[in-house]
Amino acid sequence: MTRVLLKDVRPYGEGEPVDVLVADGVIADIGANLSADADEIVQGSGAVALPGFVDLHTHLREPGREDAETIETGSKAAALGGYTAVFAMANTDPVADNAVIVEHVWRRGREVGLVDVHPVGAVTVGLAGEKLAELGTMRHSAAEVRVFSDDGKCVHDPLIMRRALEYTRSFGGLVAQHAEEPRLTVGAQAHEGPNAARLGLAGWPAPAEESIVARDCLLAAHTGGTLHVCHVSTEGTAELLRFFKGRDTGGSVSAEVTPHHLLLTDERLATYDPVNKVNPPLRTDDDALALRRALADGTVDCVATDHAPHAAQDKDCEWSAAKPGMLGLQTALGIVTRTMVRSGLLDWRGVARVLSERPAEIAGLADQGRPIAVGEPANLALVDPDAEWTVRAAELASLGQNSPFEGMRLPGRVVATLLRGAITAHEGKVRR
Ligand code: DOR
Repeated sequence: MTRVLLKDVRPYGEGEPVDVLVADGVIADIGANLSADADEIVQGSGAVALPGFVDLHTHLREPGREDAETIETGSKAAALGGYTAVFAMANTDPVADNAVIVEHVWRRGREVGLVDVHPVGAVTVGLAGEKLAELGTMRHSAAEVRVFSDDGKCVHDPLIMRRALEYTRSFGGLVAQHAEEPRLTVGAQAHEGPNAARLGLAGWPAPAEESIVARDCLLAAHTGGTLHVCHVSTEGTAELLRFFKGRDTGGSVSAEVTPHHLLLTDERLATYDPVNKVNPPLRTDDDALALRRALADGTVDCVATDHAPHAAQDKDCEWSAAKPGMLGLQTALGIVTRTMVRSGLLDWRGVARVLSERPAEIAGLADQGRPIAVGEPANLALVDPDAEWTVRAAELASLGQNSPFEGMRLPGRVVATLLRGAITAHEGKVRR
């Protein structure tokens, strides 16, 4: 096993720079001016050392849409973005609703070896919302699936949602809900409000999300199941989460927010560029500000990218024909730095919490989101907090190029990522 010496890094951005020696996949030593035999030395130059990021919400598109992303290209994007674990959503083709597909995704992730790829299992067969998939079989497969979601679609039938919460509870799993009441979003194209009305686009009203979140929080409490709310997008949802998390019930509720919902708003509709089309849609300024506050105070537990690459033909078309979704893996840190760190809402310890520790806890990963301490697994992201860079979608590792942040200058650059002590990305280049 290689030994890597990380010179002059600041764990959680605190204190004087130290050296971190990584050997046999774990942190072997931490101290000032370590002189150790190392196969490689990484100059941190004061970089912030954080536990490697964990993304609970990634679309890797394989199998089925390898023209938009593959497990390999998505893993590269993840490593370059500081991630050491990602959860690959089930809305592939075929759908990951059985042990064969989840094992395929898991194995391919291991072969690529840049990031731990954990497949998410579908809740219902074919994401059709009618019949529970074989959750237990996926749980007991080699992929050991723990997170289940029909993301892209809502588990709208309350009885199926109840059963999913009950069943996953029996083996310590959780249901990640894409909260969207389908009857309220028929034909919806953008956030319901004046900006959508001006363009004649059918609206996606906030209560379509909030009504499902309220229902599912009640069901989680009633069943004792574990609910995770995907891509929270409205102030009302944040208020509901605050209410339900403040109650002492048998169930458990967690939630994520995407970088794009922290930064962008439906003002973007004025561009009429489908790169800004996403589900749930970009909301208002008030929503974005409320989401930042909710993330800072822990009401929303973590950031998840909803990285959703699409092939050019699915985005370079008329708004209503375009697929919803945005790239996220390589820009998440920059957006979080801009919206949460530069604004003073989070320090780097807080960033470690929302990008790594909480998502690892929610998903039950024992070896991710761990403290930076001797003996702990060396899953790490080194971040230059002062460096600024310009987003160029064509230079990102993903096959799809649908980044709404194109041309934007972002603070916070990933210097290096280490997975179990092996460098997976360094200075913008992937290591294989
Ligand atoms: O914008 C989105 N794109 N939201 C989703 O929930 C699904 C995702 C996708 O798969 O493209």
